[in-house]
Amino acid sequence: MCGIAGYIGSREAVPIVMDQLKRLEYRGYDSAGVAALDGDVTIVKSEGKLRSLQDLLSVDSPSGSVAIAHTRWATHGGPTTRNAHPHADQLGRIVVAHNGIIENYADLRRSLMDDGCTFASETDTEVLPHLIRRHYQGCIVTALREALRRVRGSYALTVVCADEPDLILAARHDSPLVIGLAEGESFLASDIPALLPYTRSVLILEDGDLALIRRGSVSLIRTADGSPIHRDPVQVDWDATSAEKGGFEHFMLKDIFEQPETLRTALRGRWTDAGLNLTETGLAAAAAAAIRRIYLVGCGTAYHAGLVVASTWERRLRVPVTVEVASEFRYREPAIDDTTLVVLISQSGETADTLAALRLASAAGARTQAVVNVVGSTLSREADGVLYTQAGPEICVASTKAYTAQVASLSLLGLWLAELRGQIGDAELHRIGDALQVLPSQVAELLQQAPAIEAAAAELERFHDFFFVGRGLDYAVAQEGALKLKEISYRHSEALAAGEMKHGTLALVTPEVVAIAVATQEALREKLQSNIREVTARGAQIFGVVPPDCGELAELCRWRIEVPRTEPELAPVLAIVPLQLLAYYVARIAGCEIDQPRNLAKSVTVE
Ligand code: F6R
Repeated sequence: MCGIAGYIGSREAVPIVMDQLKRLEYRGYDSAGVAALDGDVTIVKSEGKLRSLQDLLSVDSPSGSVAIAHTRWATHGGPTTRNAHPHADQLGRIVVAHNGIIENYADLRRSLMDDGCTFASETDTEVLPHLIRRHYQGCIVTALREALRRVRGSYALTVVCADEPDLILAARHDSPLVIGLAEGESFLASDIPALLPYTRSVLILEDGDLALIRRGSVSLIRTADGSPIHRDPVQVDWDATSAEKGGFEHFMLKDIFEQPETLRTALRGRWTDAGLNLTETGLAAAAAAAIRRIYLVGCGTAYHAGLVVASTWERRLRVPVTVEVASEFRYREPAIDDTTLVVLISQSGETADTLAALRLASAAGARTQAVVNVVGSTLSREADGVLYTQAGPEICVASTKAYTAQVASLSLLGLWLAELRGQIGDAELHRIGDALQVLPSQVAELLQQAPAIEAAAAELERFHDFFFVGRGLDYAVAQEGALKLKEISYRHSEALAAGEMKHGTLALVTPEVVAIAVATQEALREKLQSNIREVTARGAQIFGVVPPDCGELAELCRWRIEVPRTEPELAPVLAIVPLQLLAYYVARIAGCEIDQPRNLAKSVTVE
């Protein structure tokens, strides 16, 4: 989704905001622009990648010590230079960059046009500078507040005004924005990694905040009534280099190889020799005992993490556990009351549908629990309880380490609920706990098979149709594996419950398709084996993710990656790793743009 950057200090601002935009590239975008203040405001914009904007700037860059910048992911109006942000009022002196959607922009646009405004773009955003101008009587703060009173929708926005040159304004409603503070200079960004090379002192904006950003200082007021807000900055202890590639060719590969460490971090302090401790969730015995129904809700990969744990939770907790994609859940009036626990799963904590599901669940009286990666995200602040997955910044658009950290965290949460409700004995708890503790080293072991997976990928790259099949928890893994392959390699890939093949999809199986068989669930192995036979009989070749010594199944696989044995409920954490690597290598061999796949965005803050 779009990215915002800003700088006010004593240095040349444009190189700094361009560097910040580069660090926000992972969010996905299709055009970019910068506005610098130096008496007047100069705007330079370009469609396409940042390098196109950089080419323009290297010929003629505006100077000045105040600038805002933006990467745009098109929603209203095509991905053209004309529609790129920032946008200005007709005098070219009030300039706005905006993430989100102005829902009533059509009405506002009509009314502004009636007043004689002419519009230079097709965007919803452009109503903002014109609206601010309409209310400007010498104070940009008042004018922005008046404008925002008339706006419906979501926004993170930043404003500069040539007549008030020592000030950048920022406002947020439903879209993230953070401010970095340093000696004599301040920075603004959509996300923390863009601030880390400059400062670790970070002020996180909340919905309804309006920030007045000056050189090295910030004051916050409420947009609605102008009253002051006091909030201390937080010190971010991420290593700046952890937000960069660290020697890997792509962020995705780095994220995949970080998984032993992220799993260790997800477990740290939660499973110890003394047992399980998740008091940080705020979930205590009385609340756990009251639960009669559970929903696990997320989008994309986060939804798949819910799929992995749902049946284990239901088996242990003896209450119905339903997994749903947030965009469906939010519109179908699910049965929720104060005995319902709704667990919202998200890497970013800013996904619009997941936030809407959270708000719906809260309004219906449910207890809400966020399982989220980004600290200080909207989801983490609005849920009743939070369990951070602690995977660190995930830069690649395709999620990998965030997923395994989600599955590990959800597994812990399920055990915690079972323990609080007295539904798990010590022996079982310790058996799973011990298996959890060796998962990181088992993932490290699997990663050593990367060269074999790369070699298989070299043969598989020529194929364009892949069916991922599995049964039980392996079917959940198959769904995530198929998503990974399709999103970064653009191969058609589809996941199926293996038993469903003969109910239709078998018609598509020819020697020109590949079946990826996930077979970690011992109890279902024989059934899966029969399904795989049906596929090989039609000439398709099999890439198997299988346990060691799997007998006949091994013989059916043209390519085979062995996954170390673990508790069946934890096997998905291992089984997904070869599939992440397979997706990565197929995409790399095919020459795809891995870290920013076409049409996708890291943080989906609109419906
Ligand atoms: C796929 C992927 C997406 C996200 C989804 C939810 O690799 O990354 O499917 O999982 O957009 O995002 P979060 O977890 O930020 O809510």
